[in-house]
Amino acid sequence: MSVVLSDYLHQQTTTHRLPENLAAVVSAIAEACVHISQQVRLGALNGVLGSAGSGNVQGEEQKKLDVIANRILIDALSQCAAVAGLASEEEDNFVAANQNGAYLVLFDPLDGSSNIDVNISIGTIFSVLAKSEGVLNTADFLQAGSKQVAAGYVLYGPQTLLVLTLNHGIAVFTLNQEGVFVNTQINPAVPPQTREFAINMSNQRHWEAPVQTYIAELLAGKNGVRGKDYNMRWVASMVAEVHRILMRGGVFMYPKDARDPNKPGKLRLMYEANPMSLLIKQAGGLATDAHQNILDIVPQGLHQRVSVILGSAEEVEYVTAKHAAT
Ligand code: AHG
Ligand code: MN
Ligand code: MN
Repeated sequence: MSVVLSDYLHQQTTTHRLPENLAAVVSAIAEACVHISQQVRLGALNGVLGSAGSGNVQGEEQKKLDVIANRILIDALSQCAAVAGLASEEEDNFVAANQNGAYLVLFDPLDGSSNIDVNISIGTIFSVLAKSEGVLNTADFLQAGSKQVAAGYVLYGPQTLLVLTLNHGIAVFTLNQEGVFVNTQINPAVPPQTREFAINMSNQRHWEAPVQTYIAELLAGKNGVRGKDYNMRWVASMVAEVHRILMRGGVFMYPKDARDPNKPGKLRLMYEANPMSLLIKQAGGLATDAHQNILDIVPQGLHQRVSVILGSAEEVEYVTAKHAAT
């Protein structure tokens, strides 16, 4: 008997006392992502490719699908009574939803925007936090990643997959022909060691010294201090990189670099780094900002950027230790 998302959520409400309204929030996110998946798959047939001709709060060009996915999620989640408020990569400020809602949902509606028009895997990343009492304000969202009550992503790749954690392991679901997420894997584990790394090598000249040294060691392969050959991958969609690491290990890095000294990294803490770090932790891996565990960072802003090193625990510890030594 196949277990579909609603069965899994029901099991979690009984086994781990998952609140029913949290199950409703996760269902609403999944439902919205089924709609996004339909838009993604139709591509040019539906006129959804190309630029929207606008920019977001971070000065990045918006693609049509960034705008469409953002709208689908906001509309679906605003109708979910358990959702008090939303924060999105594509919205300058938080969006208030339901006054009596108990949860906040933060999301990157479409991750890997540069890959949309070339038909390479993209995704949606989400993070769910509990809301405290009182009138909703930005400070309610600024909770450390360790406080997340649910996190996950939907990967729009050769298959559409939902990868979800409710802090009790990870469940992977595959979207079937009927638009239902069916459980296809439980508790993927990231091996502690790896021979595969992911970094945008074109930024090499901008990296700080510890990253320069580390990547030089990997490129030296068997002849270098690491004593083994490494393989490299760079999809340029964080969802795809993290999924590969969940399935077979590896280390993914988007370090701080010298291009813009005001930016502590490219990726955003609240709706990219935090949810991915929780998944990686649940799979036995590690995520740091080169100095501390990402899940321990006390956030300062909704769109705060952060350095990210995540994946196989021993490799992440090795890179992090290199930063401590300098
Ligand atoms: P987004 O499309 O939501 O702005 O995120 C893109 C991010 C992330 O998915 C990926 O790891 C990184 O940007 C790719 O960066 P490069 O353009 O440097 O390859
Ligand atoms: Mn992104
Ligand atoms: Mn995005």
